[in-house]
Formats: sequence, C-alpha cells, structure tokens
Amino acid sequence: MPIPTDLNQIPDWIAAQLVRAGVDRKSAMEWPVLVTGSDASGSSGRVVVLRRFDPQNHRAVIYTDRRSRKLKDLAERSQTELVFFDPKQMLQVRLRGDAVVHVDGARKDAAFDKLPARSQSDYSTKSAPGTRLLDPQPERELDLSRKHFALIEIDAFEYDILSLERDGHRRALIECSDQHYHASWVTP
Ligand SMILES: Cc1cc2nc3c(=O)[nH]c(=O)nc-3n(C[C@H](O)[C@H](O)[C@H](O)COP(=O)(O)O)c2cc1C
Repeated sequence: MPIPTDLNQIPDWIAAQLVRAGVDRKSAMEWPVLVTGSDASGSSGRVVVLRRFDPQNHRAVIYTDRRSRKLKDLAERSQTELVFFDPKQMLQVRLRGDAVVHVDGARKDAAFDKLPARSQSDYSTKSAPGTRLLDPQPERELDLSRKHFALIEIDAFEYDILSLERDGHRRALIECSDQHYHASWVTP
C-alpha cells in the first residue's frame, strides 16, 4: 500500500509496514541496513535482520554478537539509523533512533532461548567477528553462544520516508516524541 495521502495516517501506516517486516519472511523490509558511527572508525553500515517491531513504542529489535563493531560504535554513539528498502513499492524508510543494548538480563535470555539451536550457534565463534583467520571456518564453542548474544532495541525518534512514484515522488518526515507524531511532507 502506498504512503497515505493524509499525513496523520502515516505514523500508523509506517508502524504496520515494519510490524509486517518483523514477522513476514516475504517482506523485503526484513533486512535493513544498520548504520553506526564512531570518532575512531568513521561510519559503517551492514545488513541485519529486523527481528521484531513494537508499534506502541516504535521500537525495532535486532540480534547481534556483543563483540561486534556495531556494538563498539553504539557504545560511543547510541544514535543510529536503520535503512529499509522495498523494491516492490520503491519505498525507502530511514528510521533514526536511540539504541539500547542488552548484553545481560531477562530480555536477552528470553530472546536467546526462543532461537533455534542453529541460530544460537551463530554466536559460538571463539574469535570475535572481524578477527583475521587462516581458515574461513572459525573455531566454535557452543557454550559461549549465550554469552556472546546481544539484543539491540532501537526507539525511533524520526522517520524519513521516500516513495518513488510515476506521477511525483513523495517524501514525508515523521518526528516522534512521547507517542506524539508530527508529520510533514518534504522535498524528495
Ligand atoms: C542477509 C543478512 C542478514 C544478516 N543479519 C544479521 C543480524 O541480524 N545481526 C548481525 O549482527 N549481523 C547480521 N548479518 C551480518 C552483518 O551484515 C555483518 O556482516 C556482521 O554483523 C558484522 O558487522 P560489524 O562488524 O560491522 O558489527 C547479516 C548479513 C546478511 C547478509
């Protein structure tokens, strides 16, 4: 469904798109690019899986390895951006938000326990992501998976939405604060 013509409907519309992306494996928006930055290393983007989207809090949930560069960046700068693209709708959504990382605690454990064993083992490498290797397959120790697993929650404070359309592209900016939304059209 294209961006509604009524600006007031856009916050609910975008939430519905992202809820779907978190549950429907056919949604192209399942794989956003997470952009982070730090003074030392500059900016960096990588594809991640959107695990869930909570429409009440406009909160996106991502899983990762606690030793990864993205978490080092987020420890320095918690402001981040998730960039989604749906080629069927020719729709780009840039969700800007503040990230909170859970490396311990009940939320992290509950998410880890729900993962299939095969996905849990993604976090079992003895060496940290990005470590140089002599062989492409790193050594693993399954017992380490829970320790390495981390959950990122990103609370949106702004959406920048661009819809490419034949009879005129449309771009909308949604500012979010305390469950209030201010939507405006902006030049594409
Ligand atoms: C389709 C796809 C999905 C991915 N999903 C995730 C993910 O959900 N979480 C994650 O940390 N990395 C995921 N990755 C790997 C990242 O793109 C990246 O290579 C890795 O996290 C290391 O990033 P960093 O060193 O910049 O932190 C995915 C890669 C692809 C190709």
